[in-house]
Amino acid sequence: MASFNWHDSYSIGNTEVDTQHKRLIVIINELYEANRNRTGQAVIENTLNKLVDYTNYHFSKEEEMFTAYNYPGKENHTELHNDFKEKLEKLKEKADYNDPAVITDTLNFLMDWLVDHIIGADKDFGIYMKRVEL
Ligand SMILES: [Fe+2]
Repeated sequence: MASFNWHDSYSIGNTEVDTQHKRLIVIINELYEANRNRTGQAVIENTLNKLVDYTNYHFSKEEEMFTAYNYPGKENHTELHNDFKEKLEKLKEKADYNDPAVITDTLNFLMDWLVDHIIGADKDFGIYMKRVEL
């Protein structure tokens, strides 16, 4: 895989959420670099932990916003977050940090999920926020 870049089409029109998504992409790229440079198990493991922590933080911030905006899609969207958190935990458990192919598979999964989620569920929420702000 090549490195993963933010693209303006990922913007959901809310600065706070966009900034957090950019940060997630930065951490995914750190993981990519650590894996590519074979910086060692500890660095890869720490970066994956950092990604899990930041993902949890980001999801909880989004979920606070669903409540604040009385978002009707709150339940479905929160379920998507919970499902992803579970998958991420499982990946972490079985991650073989010495096998670059496993980390590459993990990275591909993370990027695909994140892009799909941003341009799908998160954009729907962005559109809703704009509507209620009017
Ligand atoms: Fe989300």
